[in-house]
Amino acid sequence: MKKDFISIADYSLSELEAIFDLTKELKAKTKRREEHHLCKGLTMSMIFAKPSARTRISFETGMYQLGGYALYLSPADIGIGKREAVKDIAQVVSRYNDIIMARLFEHIHMEVLAEHATAPVINGLTDYNHPCQIMADIFTVMEHRKNLNDIKIVYIGDGNNVANSWINLASKMPMHLILCSPSGYEPDHKTLENARNTGISQIELLTDPKAAVKDADVVYTDVWASMGMEAEARARRKVFLPYQVNSDLMSHAGKNALVMHCLPAHRGDEITDDVIDGPQSIVFDEAENRMHVQKAIIVKLLGKA
Ligand code: CP
Ligand code: NVA
Repeated sequence: MKKDFISIADYSLSELEAIFDLTKELKAKTKRREEHHLCKGLTMSMIFAKPSARTRISFETGMYQLGGYALYLSPADIGIGKREAVKDIAQVVSRYNDIIMARLFEHIHMEVLAEHATAPVINGLTDYNHPCQIMADIFTVMEHRKNLNDIKIVYIGDGNNVANSWINLASKMPMHLILCSPSGYEPDHKTLENARNTGISQIELLTDPKAAVKDADVVYTDVWASMGMEAEARARRKVFLPYQVNSDLMSHAGKNALVMHCLPAHRGDEITDDVIDGPQSIVFDEAENRMHVQKAIIVKLLGKA
């Protein structure tokens, strides 16, 4: 049966570890400029209903490095779920391409796409989650902290798609995960409940950012208004201002804490220039690792390793 990459929650720990092992190998080969055409002659459609820099560039470049070809379909092209039914697109694209990557609004559309596509589907972000991002993020943390035992990851800000994927990861890999959001902006309740029920990680919801970042190994943040929420941005700024990751907040975390952000960042809102540009920030390492980890996901889904 074909496999998709829709949520980290669908994968076992050993499957995730196999992806990270392959990521390491492919990253090393890429750095050495050693050819690794594991997907020679294969093609991928990339369906975007929302804008993107990292996701598009990293998937397109990664597929090229694997010896394959990726084509970009912009929000104006397909009109998934609007111009055409999701299940029709799923079947049509599967006739042309070996693999599909999609960035969509509604998570249910991603599930329908995967259900009806005969080609494997990779989730490049929905309103609900962003699994490729969190795979790259934890891989980056592993590069910086050899030992993940007792790691304390603190997510500050909106309980959005990125936060939900952190929780899904915590349902597979043991960690101490703290999510600190203003009341009413917490992550998905069901996702949290499912993750807590696994008993794998300690997962806390807090509202006080200073208390949350104490002894953090990682302080992570994301935009206060995600793509599609632009109309709420002004109102959200007022609510989220106390959750800004700035030097004052970082002084409560300690100087060894790593700073992460999936990008794009709204500098001066959720994170200040001095912090994102400072010595604790590893935001560009995580952006780079999107490509390496996604190449491993593509290769695994296509059964080429
Ligand atoms: N982090 C991320 O997914 O970036 P883009 O929205 O630019 O793809
Ligand atoms: N939460 C953000 C992530 C962007 C990569 C959004 O959905 O816009």
